[in-house]
Amino acid sequence: MKPSQLLLLLLLLLLLEVSYVLLQENNKPNFVLMMVDDLGIGDLGCYGNKTLRTPNIDQLALEGVKLTHHIAAASLCTPSRAAFLTGRYPIRSGLTGTLRPGVFFFNAASGGLPSKEVTFAKIARQQGYETALIGKWHLGLSCESRDDHCHHPSIHGFNYFFGIPLTNLRDCQPGHGTVFQLHKYLPCWTLGMVVATAVALHLIGVLPLRRGMLQGLLVLVVAVTGLTAGFIRMIPYFNCVLFRDHSIVEQPFSLENLTRRMTREAVDFIDRNSAGPFLLFVSFLQVHTAMFASAAFRGTSRHGIYGDAVHEVDWSVGQIMQALERLELRENTLVYLTSDQGAHQEEGLHGGWNGIYKAGKSTNWEGGIRVPGILRWPGKIPSGRQIDEPTSNMDLFPTVVQLSGASVPQDREIDGRDLLDLLQRRQDRAHHEFLFHYCNSYLNAVRWKPQNSSSVWKAFYFTPNFFPKDQTTCFHTHVCFCTPEYVTYHDPPLLYDLWRDPSEAVPLSPDTEPAFHTVVAVMKEAVEAHQRSVKPVESQLSAAHLMWKPWLQPCCSTLTQLCQCHRNQEASTQHG
Ligand SMILES: *[C@@H]1O[C@H](CO)[C@@H](O)[C@H](O)[C@H]1NC(C)=O
Repeated sequence: MKPSQLLLLLLLLLLLEVSYVLLQENNKPNFVLMMVDDLGIGDLGCYGNKTLRTPNIDQLALEGVKLTHHIAAASLCTPSRAAFLTGRYPIRSGLTGTLRPGVFFFNAASGGLPSKEVTFAKIARQQGYETALIGKWHLGLSCESRDDHCHHPSIHGFNYFFGIPLTNLRDCQPGHGTVFQLHKYLPCWTLGMVVATAVALHLIGVLPLRRGMLQGLLVLVVAVTGLTAGFIRMIPYFNCVLFRDHSIVEQPFSLENLTRRMTREAVDFIDRNSAGPFLLFVSFLQVHTAMFASAAFRGTSRHGIYGDAVHEVDWSVGQIMQALERLELRENTLVYLTSDQGAHQEEGLHGGWNGIYKAGKSTNWEGGIRVPGILRWPGKIPSGRQIDEPTSNMDLFPTVVQLSGASVPQDREIDGRDLLDLLQRRQDRAHHEFLFHYCNSYLNAVRWKPQNSSSVWKAFYFTPNFFPKDQTTCFHTHVCFCTPEYVTYHDPPLLYDLWRDPSEAVPLSPDTEPAFHTVVAVMKEAVEAHQRSVKPVESQLSAAHLMWKPWLQPCCSTLTQLCQCHRNQEASTQHG
């Protein structure tokens, strides 16, 4: 071969190599991951609902795979979302605590998803993806000063953010009440009692008080009551804040047309990035209370404003799918839809339906954690298929990471398992033999699917005390808590076989289930091995991290203007 020929050959090889790499780049799928808030598995047509209309979501299930045993890693928003993004049990990242509340209640709290956690968005961004979060975050905002935004979505891999750092609260809609229950959050009531008693004792002559002291006490009570009442009035301004990236767009936000605006943001993002690859996480504010729906959807369902909100979410899913269709991205986009946990039963008429599953949000009964799970990737995963194997919302982490061309981090425990083999039928069994269910920091239950049987065992070490007793809700406290006063412990654990008894109706006993002791012993061993793998980390839901800190309060105007700003979306925004 002549040197010139050799050169030509080498050049040709190089060209091939370059085009191969380019092809690989182009082969990276886009991701559209959608999470509905508090949607019950029984609310969707494709999961058996007959009266709510969810044609767009049902279509996704028809064209893709429907998971019937898809488990949220936690039954409350903050920890469930942390697990979804990181592929790890929330306890590993400190997104659990030992107190009663298991979620963030203030934008001005200092806890959040630690920056050393790795989300799939962070990895995708490193892999050349354009990334966005549209909607709810609920994983913290700032640490030490109000603009440090140390927990902001941008720290965790999202190049673009349009949404709310906290969550939609009842307080965010005038006339919908408050989640801050006055009788619990007004410590001055206690103070008032003390003063009243002191005054009474003084008047009957038992407790001699100097006049000045009495007046001082009265002033104190009035001041504390006034401040607390003022604070509660301020909550919508403090907590209901809409951001674009690091700037405040609206404070407090208006729920009017919010889903429409977010849908437009999502479609615009897809339009801007149609050359790909992109990762879009659409995190709906619906169907969490305060319940809302745009005018076009109000009154469209037989299930009040809740049903209307489900209809609007379905419409939004349809709009996003249409955008993919229009831009010919259907084939090259993996779409996922889920809910962060089961429907919130304590909301009564404003809560959804968990189908045959027991109880709901804030419990580890199936109704709290068995969620819809739909995946569509035409040509790559079969259509119209149903998978009954246990899967977890943590599985999206390794699945997305691998498809983006990276490998999962080796320096930490990853609890999610790549779904692709299961979805593409290279394998019939899920990789999850055990799943562990936490209630805040407390190990609550464990699920075991043995390799050689169809049984799915589930053992509870404690269960929430329901009230009223004959129902499966915690109406008196609005959510179920995990601390000793609110639960009943079980030793031996309460055991169910979900294959025979998916509604967890009748616990098994050594009399009714000969394998009882063996099963319980295997599960105990798995729990111990799991617990040894959990390294202690700082809790992000400790009292110090949960409390409202004035110096962290996002505020787009001065405090005397009540931190109010209403700007239309297009106007330039300012961030104070
Ligand atoms: C459909 O969903 C609504 C609203 O959550 C619920 O009230 C109803 O019982 C569900 N219907 C069925 C058949 O599951």
